[in-house]
This record gives sequence, C-alpha cells and structure tokens, in this order.
Amino acid sequence: MKYIKIEVKNRIGTIIINRPEALNAMSRTLVGELKDATENLIKDSDVNIILITGSGEKAFVAGADIKAMQKMSGRQALEFSREGQEMTMVIEESPKPVIAVINGFALGGGCEIALACDIRIASQNAKFSQPEVALGIIPGWGGTQRLPRLIGKGYAIEMIASGEMINADEALRIGLVNHVVPQSELMGKAYLLAQSILKNGPNAVAAALKCIHTGYDKSLESSLDIELNAFAELFETEEQREGTAAFVEKRKPNFNK
Ligand code: CAA
Repeated sequence: MKYIKIEVKNRIGTIIINRPEALNAMSRTLVGELKDATENLIKDSDVNIILITGSGEKAFVAGADIKAMQKMSGRQALEFSREGQEMTMVIEESPKPVIAVINGFALGGGCEIALACDIRIASQNAKFSQPEVALGIIPGWGGTQRLPRLIGKGYAIEMIASGEMINADEALRIGLVNHVVPQSELMGKAYLLAQSILKNGPNAVAAALKCIHTGYDKSLESSLDIELNAFAELFETEEQREGTAAFVEKRKPNFNK
C-alpha cells in the first residue's frame, strides 16, 4: 500500500495513515487502501483490536482531498461519497473494536473516519470540524448521520452549519471523544485502553458491539430481541465455559488458548 502502514504487535493491529505532505488528506486511492487495510486486519487471526491513527504530530486526517474534489462532476462525487461511506461501514461493522487515535487535525472526512470507530481518544493538540459547507458541499462519508447520533442534533447542527473548528477539550465536553491526553502519551493511552478490552472474551466483545450497532436505530423491543439471541448464543461457546469456570476457580481466564 502506498499511503498506509500497518503494525501488528500483542494482538493490536495499528493502521497509520501516512500522507504527511497533504496532512493525510484522503484521495480516492487512500480511501480504498484504508478499507483494504481494515478488512485485512479484521481477517488477521493475530489481531483482536484495531487502532487507526495518522502519521506525524499535526494531522489525523485533514479531510477528503480537496484538490481531487475540485473538478469532480456530480456523478464522480456520488462514486467518491459511496466509496467513502463503504470504507466507514467496514470500520463501523468490524467485529474487532476499532479505536480512533486522533493525533491532530480531524477535519471533514477525517472526523467522519473517527465517527465510524467504536472509541475515540485524542491528543491535546487535536482539532475537529466538519468544514464542508465552507467549500460549498456537505459531509459525504456519514457525518450528517453519525455526528448527531453521537453528540446530539444541537451540537451536530452547530458544527456542520458553522464549519467552525473545536479543540480537544470542547470535543471531550460534548462527547465527541472519550479521552484527551498529551500528544506524548497518546499511543500509551491507546495501548492501555486496548489492553482493557483485550483481556476479555473476543466473541463476547464482538457480540456486544454487534448488539449496540444493529440495535441502536431500532425500537427497544426489537433491539432487546437482538440482545437476547446474542446472549443465548454465547452460552454455546468455549469462551463462556472458560470465562465462568475461571471465576469459579478464582483464576484469570485464558481466552486465547
Ligand atoms: N485536501 C488536499 N490537500 C490538503 C488538505 C485537504 N483536505 N488539507 C491540507 N492539504 C494540503 C495543503 O494543500 C498543503 O499542501 P501544499 O503545501 O501542497 O499546498 C498541505 O496539506 C499543508 O496544509 P496547509 O499549508 O494548509 O497547512 P496549515 O497548517 O496552514 O493548515 C489546515 C492546516 C487548517 C488543516 C488546512 O490545511 C485546511 O484547512 N485543510 C482543509 C481542511 C478541510 O476543509 N477539510 C475538509 C475537506 S472536505 C471533506 O472532507 C468532504 C467529506 O466529507 C468527505
């Protein structure tokens, strides 16, 4: 891959978006590469959790590539939006938790990539915006839908209609990110968070994510049904036997036997 680096260590797969000369702006090639990289780590049996970050200390992703979009027709824009939305769906539907490790600007499509992740943590210098209306367009990779679902309609409308940048502390206050730490501690914090998830049963974690994502927009009645079936299915797994036996035998479970 030209613009993506992948590192796999201790069951953690890290995707590094690496186009620093354009602040990691997402060209069509890069959109395809991020989708492929995520799919590869989902299939990789050595990986149980995925981190997505940007190279350098300035940008996570400064958005979709504006230079590439400048000459796009409506038809080409439709394709670009579809490819970006597909890429974000692969991230959102990953059975392995995906953490956005936001090391700087997360603007436009960059903010939308972060929104598709399960958890967002940011460095103190991170900045967020959906500035598309300033370019005469709108968010096209899920921003108009995922942002209000995450932070509520009021803040989402303010961010999308004003296009104004907010800093990491404001992002924390409105629930756009879960944690803010100094830049030097960002990867350490991401690893600690990853470890807190990795110690648990991977099938159980995947089932919980599926219930949350698929049930979110449904009625409570049908969402509870999804939970009920997933709960029951886990009782047919080795993981449930190991987890409950470990508690009774007063030892730590070993889920990676
Ligand atoms: N697309 C293409 N190139 C970009 C880019 C982008 N989104 N963001 C930055 N770059 C390029 C710049 O053009 C510049 O390249 P050159 O030196 O070749 O001109 C290089 O990255 C460094 O950027 P700046 O010189 O602008 O750096 P700065 O520190 O002065 O400013 C910034 C940083 C505030 C992030 C500014 O670059 C900026 O505003 N970028 C655009 C942000 C934006 O509008 N993003 C939304 C895009 S639309 C979108 O994402 C649609 C969607 O929903 C899918």
